[in-house]
Amino acid sequence: MKVGSIRRLERRRCFPDYDASALSGSVGKTARAWQVGAELEIIMKLTYYGHSCFSVVVGGKTLLFDPFISGNPLARDIRLDRIAADYILISHGHEDHLADAMTLAKQTGALLISNFEIVEWFAAKGLTHAHPLNHGGGRTFDFGRVKYVNAVHSSMLPDGANGGNAGGFVIESAAGNFYYSGDTALTMDMKLIGESTRLTFAVLCLGDNFTMGIEDAIRAADFVRCDKILGVHYDTFPPIRIDHEDAVRKFKAAGKELHLLAPGGQHEFN
Ligand code: NI
Ligand code: MN
Repeated sequence: MKVGSIRRLERRRCFPDYDASALSGSVGKTARAWQVGAELEIIMKLTYYGHSCFSVVVGGKTLLFDPFISGNPLARDIRLDRIAADYILISHGHEDHLADAMTLAKQTGALLISNFEIVEWFAAKGLTHAHPLNHGGGRTFDFGRVKYVNAVHSSMLPDGANGGNAGGFVIESAAGNFYYSGDTALTMDMKLIGESTRLTFAVLCLGDNFTMGIEDAIRAADFVRCDKILGVHYDTFPPIRIDHEDAVRKFKAAGKELHLLAPGGQHEFN
């Protein structure tokens, strides 16, 4: 066994309250299989595609969040036709979070997960392989559990249709748990996430102007009790440009690790 693997197992043992066998049904069986056999499954590999688009491989399944690639000049080197997904999760109705969702859903056959109104909007366009959630509700899929949580933001769809209310996602799996804020203001509701779920990492918007800025994102990281953060929703448009070094330094001063990946960049969280 490699040293890194042992370290990951040790880390798992540090969290006796985390019990993958508590998951029900087929997911529980898979989770137990991971625990027994494949320690490398404890890592979660994240790939950043620019803006707020990223994928995380969880239990062998690829979860793709908020696909906005073809309209993002900073992601011009990303090949849309090479992107894999088993699930596509959309946080809210704005174009910079779903512009490539239809293309990628058709290309990959992925199951779309979003709020009820957004799922209905895609269904009207012929994309019916989808699962609707609404705030506070979750569902267990073959990789783990997805809960749709509060965000303070708007959600009108590109054609003016009602996109419901904006949200974020908490993912719980045998490989670990993470939170994606979507677009949001800092909100006290984030404390509920920290109280309920032990997060391995959190993906937080921090570009300011339309969402939290750096200072609020640091407070959000405190609220959700997480010190490994991937920053998203910055640099794409002039009003959300940030100073990377300054952001990383401010997180570090708060005892937190901020990752700002270039589009195409990857990081393994464990
Ligand atoms: Ni938005
Ligand atoms: Mn946005």
